[in-house]
Amino acid sequence: MSLRHVAIIMDGNGRWAARRKRPRTFGHQRGARAVKKTIEACIRNDVAYLTLFAFSSENWSRPEQEVQKLMQLFMRSLKKETPELQKQGVQLAFIGDLSRFSEALQESMRKASEPINTEQRLILNIAVNYGGQWDISQACRKLAQEAKDGLIQPESIDEELFQSYTSLHPQPVVDLMIRTGGEHRISNFLLWQIAYSELYFTETLWPDFDMPEFNEIVNAFNRRERRFGQTSEQINA
Ligand code: FPP
Repeated sequence: MSLRHVAIIMDGNGRWAARRKRPRTFGHQRGARAVKKTIEACIRNDVAYLTLFAFSSENWSRPEQEVQKLMQLFMRSLKKETPELQKQGVQLAFIGDLSRFSEALQESMRKASEPINTEQRLILNIAVNYGGQWDISQACRKLAQEAKDGLIQPESIDEELFQSYTSLHPQPVVDLMIRTGGEHRISNFLLWQIAYSELYFTETLWPDFDMPEFNEIVNAFNRRERRFGQTSEQINA
């Protein structure tokens, strides 16, 4: 069974830091290291698309200092890591409503997502100020506008057309969604794109997530039978 697209809710940075009596931002810094290890693990496993939930539309309500530090960490990580990632064949992309970020950060994101000139091995989508419901409603808005302008007919709207207006188009939908940190929920991350995803929840706090655990999850994914509504007999025929 092919594993092309992995999405991850990277939860548990704050608790990881609290257990060490350190500020929450220390957990985010260590979380950035786990991001690097996960990119490496994806490349080794021939995963072609990785989508990470870095900052949700709801995260703005965190203490101002934490939000500020997270923004600084994003800026620093982008500047520091992008050249090396590009050398490794990682194409960066950002999904979410980027307009709420500072001009400087928007510019860094634009620069980092320019097309790479090495052979592409992984597309890394970073979801920032992202919400699955936002993604669906922005697709609806564009569709409604085009229908109003007479560019499309309402009857022509089906799942395939709708999907082409969502943020990750034209990338394939998600095969495997992982959430670290012990909670069993989707928290308004990708919604449309996980209709048939396998879901995997682990107690591991994000900064402790590493390649052996990623490989274990890939093995578990390979043992699962994805039926897409069919019967086991049909799949194995
Ligand atoms: C959730 O942990 C994590 C976040 C809100 C931020 C994710 C950011 C990183 C992993 C930093 C680096 C990322 C990139 C792409 C450079 P939490 O704070 O909600 O943890 P808690 O549930 O234990 O409080």
